[in-house]
Amino acid sequence: MSAKAMTVAGIMSGTSADGIDVAVVRIAPGKTRPRLKLLAHESCKFPAALRRAILTAMNAASTSTAELARLNWRLGLAYTEAVQATLMLHPIKLDLVGCHGQTLFHQPRAANYAGRKFSCTWQAGEAQVIASTLGIPVVSNFRPSDMLAGGQGAPLVPLLDYVLFAHSKRGRVLQNIGGIANLTAIPAAATPDAVIAFDTGPGNMVIDALAHQLFGKTFDRNGSLAANGKIIATALSAALRNPYFQLKPPRTAGREQFGREYAAKFLSSCRRYSNKPEDALATATALTAETIAQSYKQFVLPKMKSSSNKITGVDYIVSGGGARNRTLMAMLTERLEPMNCLLAISDAFGLPIEAKEAAAFALLAWQTWHHQPGNVPAATGAARAAILGQVTYA
Ligand SMILES: Nc1ncnc2c1ncn2[C@@H]1O[C@H](COP(=O)(O)OP(=O)(O)O)[C@@H](O)[C@H]1O
Ligand SMILES: [Mg+2]
Repeated sequence: MSAKAMTVAGIMSGTSADGIDVAVVRIAPGKTRPRLKLLAHESCKFPAALRRAILTAMNAASTSTAELARLNWRLGLAYTEAVQATLMLHPIKLDLVGCHGQTLFHQPRAANYAGRKFSCTWQAGEAQVIASTLGIPVVSNFRPSDMLAGGQGAPLVPLLDYVLFAHSKRGRVLQNIGGIANLTAIPAAATPDAVIAFDTGPGNMVIDALAHQLFGKTFDRNGSLAANGKIIATALSAALRNPYFQLKPPRTAGREQFGREYAAKFLSSCRRYSNKPEDALATATALTAETIAQSYKQFVLPKMKSSSNKITGVDYIVSGGGARNRTLMAMLTERLEPMNCLLAISDAFGLPIEAKEAAAFALLAWQTWHHQPGNVPAATGAARAAILGQVTYA
């Protein structure tokens, strides 16, 4: 099938379970890579009852089948409405939708179940609800195909990162800070097989949990609570000894590692040394910054030389809601600039921080529509390139 230009809406809702990001992108075939133009993007919050249902389904050791079936359908409605709201504000005719869905469970390593050993993943959100209501085909369920090709099913954003940001003279790191923080590193003039991508660790997840428990807020707006606290060095270094941070990439994380239970333990460790709630929040913020900087130093920096073996300057481009946390950004700057990184937010490169991941799923949908692979095997650990997901027709 020869590729054609299409207008595609990408829909993303991440592990923060804060809401839905929609990006409408015009995608056209190019000489070496597809060309993308962001036409519109909008974010909408999940209603409180839906957010609670998502968090319950993600965290609960047991939930009912009826509950999950309803949640799957309800998410389909929420995604549909998010696209409709976007089109009300920006009347654009869509050709295709790419919907990531809400990850309710992600187990990248094989484990025994009912007599077989396998890895698995589940992104909920009934694609047929979206396709039938909008009258547009939907690509969804992107992750299993990469897993069956031997990958971890994540991260899948690296294709977009490569297509938009790979540079002949500058190294590029795309750091997304959602619930979980992940990076894609592209050395100067690199081919896709030299891309490095992995989850660095918690992004906003522990910060959000502490903001909720200590201050009754859903998140630490602009990092202003953490700004009034001091990092508790002993609690921070104890947290950094978590074996996750020693795992070699590819590695992925989710609420399974850094969810409620983790946050509760982290908080009680902080309380051993300080009773000031702002200190705990500052320490959680430092945990995100420190694990990002350590990941970069350990796994990325040694590989950021260009093909001619010169160490090049690196643009360290941050996206995701964490980019709005000023305390976190200051901590990152302090740790990364000494390693020759120039910190920026993705807005400065033409892609607003809320739109990047959603735009990635628009591109992946476009790839799948044209029977083209969407994973970057170097990023997921897959043995081969794979066409991702399935098409649901209207
Ligand atoms: N103004 C802000 N100040 C601090 N943190 C923010 C701000 N806006 C968003 N965030 C953080 O970003 C998170 C949402 O980020 P997002 O990129 O949508 O993550 P996910 O992909 O996990 O849904 C929120 O839960 C919050 O912690
Ligand atoms: Mg979000």
